[in-house]
Amino acid sequence: MATQYRNNSLCMEEVALDKIADQFGTPVYCYSADRIEKNFNAYRKALGLVMPDSGFTICYACKANSNLAVLRLLQKQGAGADIVSGGELYRALKGGIPVSKIVFSGVGKSEAELEEAIRRGLFQINVESEPELEMISRLAVRLRKKVTVAFRVNPNVDARTHAKITTGKKENKFGVDIRQAPALYARAKKLPGVEAAGVAVHIGSQLTSLAPFRKAYMRVAELVKTLRKQGHNITRVDLGGGIGITYKDETPPDLSLYAAMVRDVIGPLSVHVIIEPGRSIVGDAGVLLSRVVQVKKGRDKKFLILDAAMNDLMRPSLYGAYHAITPFKKAKAKTLYDVVGPVCETGDTFLIDEKLPELKAGDLVAIMTSGAYGAVMSSNYNTRPLAAEVLVKGKKFALVRDCQTVEDIVARDKIPGWVA
Ligand code: LLP
Repeated sequence: MATQYRNNSLCMEEVALDKIADQFGTPVYCYSADRIEKNFNAYRKALGLVMPDSGFTICYACKANSNLAVLRLLQKQGAGADIVSGGELYRALKGGIPVSKIVFSGVGKSEAELEEAIRRGLFQINVESEPELEMISRLAVRLRKKVTVAFRVNPNVDARTHAKITTGKKENKFGVDIRQAPALYARAKKLPGVEAAGVAVHIGSQLTSLAPFRKAYMRVAELVKTLRKQGHNITRVDLGGGIGITYKDETPPDLSLYAAMVRDVIGPLSVHVIIEPGRSIVGDAGVLLSRVVQVKKGRDKKFLILDAAMNDLMRPSLYGAYHAITPFKKAKAKTLYDVVGPVCETGDTFLIDEKLPELKAGDLVAIMTSGAYGAVMSSNYNTRPLAAEVLVKGKKFALVRDCQTVEDIVARDKIPGWVA
């Protein structure tokens, strides 16, 4: 957890969070630099204990939180990047991440995005279909390049996570059917612009047990052996996203156990290992600060109406995800609230029947574990400006993204002459 009480004030590192709320207004995202670095280094350490440092690359999944300051912080720790769009490529490069550590994933990369990636010479492109493979080879030939690719295989393994973030079952849109992989590697061998040197897999996000990872990785290891027998020079395996985190009472596996499993299942292949953690690097490093707008009594319920809403943090309304609420001042929890936002739908609900201390209008609360898939998924619904983002380091804190203004949002609208 990136926050703790000091003198009965909720702090992130050495900074009392009311200072940030007072200075920048609410809702505002706050991230702990220290926690982000620790989380990244925990991966580095765990993997480093089971393989040489040169044997793996940690490509941070930018989609979880792609703020430039976060990317730069991670780059300085030695992180690479997993990107899924031209926009994320732009951000990763601006964050200083070297192309030699950037992997391009994604189920529907456009020709323009692929061309840019090939021109830049990224470390690896993860291919999702035969037509995409053909397109990459064609573009590479035109640009006089040879592109290192990995097929992302769909191992048909249930990640046992939320249905909307499950990606490795046969009915999901992701990857190529693992049974068809040998034919695709054979096809790739015939194409002049690509070199299929890797196998990639990603079965879903927020996995809280090792078993599905192990099952998927074992299928990948089998495939690598088959491909090698068929004469393919497979030198890399991309293991996809990282482990899940604790939002409420989940107990994700210890990283050392994960690393030991990777050593047991993938180690014997002597490949370069790529891993693309996102959530577990930034999730618990962030909170969304919000103030109570009103406390409203319904017929049976007490509603705590916050100034943060589903447009700021979509996870509760989209996935029914649980994000705890921590008041700025510690007090005994004794009142049952439904915690909601001001947006005009019932789905704009953070928590139902949650026991919290008595709160009143103007009180500050932190919506916990919001560093991953928070700010990046926010929208302008209800013409609500995107919240500011602040990075905390020790006693220091700085704005790393300005709050949008309503003028910013509306500036791109146009009224055609024939309407005016
Ligand atoms: N690699 C690939 C190919 C991915 O698709 C993802 C996440 C990751 C890596 C990073 O996975 P992580 O380490 O964060 O579990 N918006 C959803 C999560 C979507 C995850 C999409 N892919 C949420 O808020 O729960």
